[in-house]
Amino acid sequence: MARIGILTGGGDCPGLNPVIRAVVRRALLEGYEITGIKNGWKGLVENDTMPLNIDTISGILPKGGTILGTSRTNPYKKEGDLQKVKDNFKKMGLDALVAVGGEDTLGVASKLVKDGLPIVGVPKTIDNDLSATDYTFGFDTALNVAMECIDRLHTTAESHHRIMIAEVMGRHAGWIAIEAGIAGGADMILIPEIPIDLDEVCNVIKKRHARGKTFSIVVVSEGAQFKDGAMVTQEQKLDAFGHVRLGGIGEDLAAQIEKRTGFETRVSVFGHIQRGGSPTAFDRVLGTRFGVKAVELIINKKFGKMVALAGTKIIDVPLEEAVKTLKTVDTELYNIAKVFFG
Ligand code: F6P
Repeated sequence: MARIGILTGGGDCPGLNPVIRAVVRRALLEGYEITGIKNGWKGLVENDTMPLNIDTISGILPKGGTILGTSRTNPYKKEGDLQKVKDNFKKMGLDALVAVGGEDTLGVASKLVKDGLPIVGVPKTIDNDLSATDYTFGFDTALNVAMECIDRLHTTAESHHRIMIAEVMGRHAGWIAIEAGIAGGADMILIPEIPIDLDEVCNVIKKRHARGKTFSIVVVSEGAQFKDGAMVTQEQKLDAFGHVRLGGIGEDLAAQIEKRTGFETRVSVFGHIQRGGSPTAFDRVLGTRFGVKAVELIINKKFGKMVALAGTKIIDVPLEEAVKTLKTVDTELYNIAKVFFG
């Protein structure tokens, strides 16, 4: 009997549990046994596992987060960890592994495949910034949460005649900002792909107020940068994959806008709320489709591949393709958003 492992790594997102459930259900049909590896690559370094079977996955479909836990451990960072991963892979008796993650987790998976381990990937992230797939699961839920928060900001902005800045996540890609901004009717959307021109932002707001509006909603992505300005970060420390902790651009922006326009301005940082809670139907279905297809990749011994969404179809792509470049917001979508600025 074959045994497959599954791990979830990097920032959690809604939809991970539907993937775990789908992997287990499809694998059981094949007569496979399944090992749950706890806390991403950390679990393989530390030989930390939990049993996955029909009972342990019961009821997890609507739950946010991941029953396996997660971490940002990079086994290529610390001397000796790579060997531990290889040794524990054997000790666990694994014939194959499903790695569920974003660019970092799947970047490790891609390297491990080259180092000889039989792995397939499943793309997750609220940031939607992975190449080679039209969507990652988790994004739709985060987007809908952000949209609802923007709707809520409208009513208080209007009552108080204020400018409300909504700072959203997304790292170096503006997908959450642009789509939540369009869906929530933002008056200005600022994304990492387009440097912030403060004169332009303030002119748009002033014009809007000149035509009688007494409030404005500005959505800013945490990774957006002022023209000639550095990225705003919460701390200088880098994580195991070399990432800084973004956050704080909203406050800087608010101070500048209030100073230049004279309009009272407040900031709301949506933060981890965007990553929490129950997945939307879209993310449950996408996660389920990805999980089933990931096991089918294993059945067909298509290691080194990642499941992906292309239009309405689930396809497979080389893992290295998915992590090669970051998928950022395209000009076409930005130009559509711009129609509604001001
Ligand atoms: O990659 C997902 C993400 O939520 C980013 O949008 C954000 O910058 C980062 O993770 C936050 O990470 P942490 O959970 O470590 O605060």
